[in-house]
Amino acid sequence: MPDGTVSWRHLWDETAVLHGRPQARWLCEEASGAFGDEFHGVLAEPATERQVAHLDAMLLRLQGGEPLQYVLGHWSFRTLDLLVDRRVLIPRPETEWVAGAAIDAVRDLLRESGERPFVVADLGTGSGAIGLSVAAELPRGSVEVWLTDVALDALDVARANAAGLGMAAAGVRFGHGPWFAALPQRLQGTLALVVSNPPYIAHDDERVEQSVREWEPAGALFATDNGLADVRTIAEGAAEWLRPGGRLVLEIGSGQGLAVCELLLGAGLVDVEVRPDLAGHDRLALGRREN
Ligand SMILES: C[S@@+](CC[C@H](N)C(=O)[O-])C[C@H]1O[C@@H](n2cnc3c(N)ncnc32)[C@H](O)[C@@H]1O
Repeated sequence: MPDGTVSWRHLWDETAVLHGRPQARWLCEEASGAFGDEFHGVLAEPATERQVAHLDAMLLRLQGGEPLQYVLGHWSFRTLDLLVDRRVLIPRPETEWVAGAAIDAVRDLLRESGERPFVVADLGTGSGAIGLSVAAELPRGSVEVWLTDVALDALDVARANAAGLGMAAAGVRFGHGPWFAALPQRLQGTLALVVSNPPYIAHDDERVEQSVREWEPAGALFATDNGLADVRTIAEGAAEWLRPGGRLVLEIGSGQGLAVCELLLGAGLVDVEVRPDLAGHDRLALGRREN
């Protein structure tokens, strides 16, 4: 450009050399403040000094190995755009599918009964991804959704994300503490759905990528007992906290299907089932408290 400034088209091309076009576009959108179709509208425009500095700062963080989602500061999950930073696990695509199963389970219950609202608990909510999707995608007033976490700073992120939802978060509540202990005692035996993506990776699992180990909160990832300690605690509490006919939906680790089935059956749940994800790995465990 004549005055020494650069256009967004140029910055996008330049960023794409190292980061590929889709990732470069997300970064340029973030720095320009123009998203989606709007970004095409600014391609020929010059970037301001402040915008270029923002882009450079993000590129520097990426070079340091920080995951793109933390660098951008937000990430999409189903219908939501969630604030994410190092306080919470980056919500994964497979968890979108788990959230879908949770939403379907509540839809079934809503069809079976005219009672409202159904009480739902998302245990270990992190960014709030699963529970906020339940709140946002089901008819308003049909659910009261409890988002709980043992990590206070994760709950802060979930609160910020709930605030971004406006009216859709009217039925959202928060609880701090370990698993079911984060919920008020009066909810015992009343929950229509318990959904959780607990830590399920064994500490010595060598398949965990270096950037995950380095950047994401260890408390969100790893569990003792070969990754099954938290799943066991949730399974054991479920029969007590679910209402009769209430559903349990759990994200689980690849290869944990059989062990988790045994845990759910041992806890007295019925209709126990494990479903593989698109890659064919055990990913979702379902159970129900008997009517
Ligand atoms: C795998 S992350 C899931 C986060 C989010 N639900 C998602 O799917 O993206 C597990 C979450 O469980 C929380 N957590 C770990 N131990 C816990 C415990 N004992 N009680 C409650 N939450 C716990 C972590 O802080 C973390 O937010």
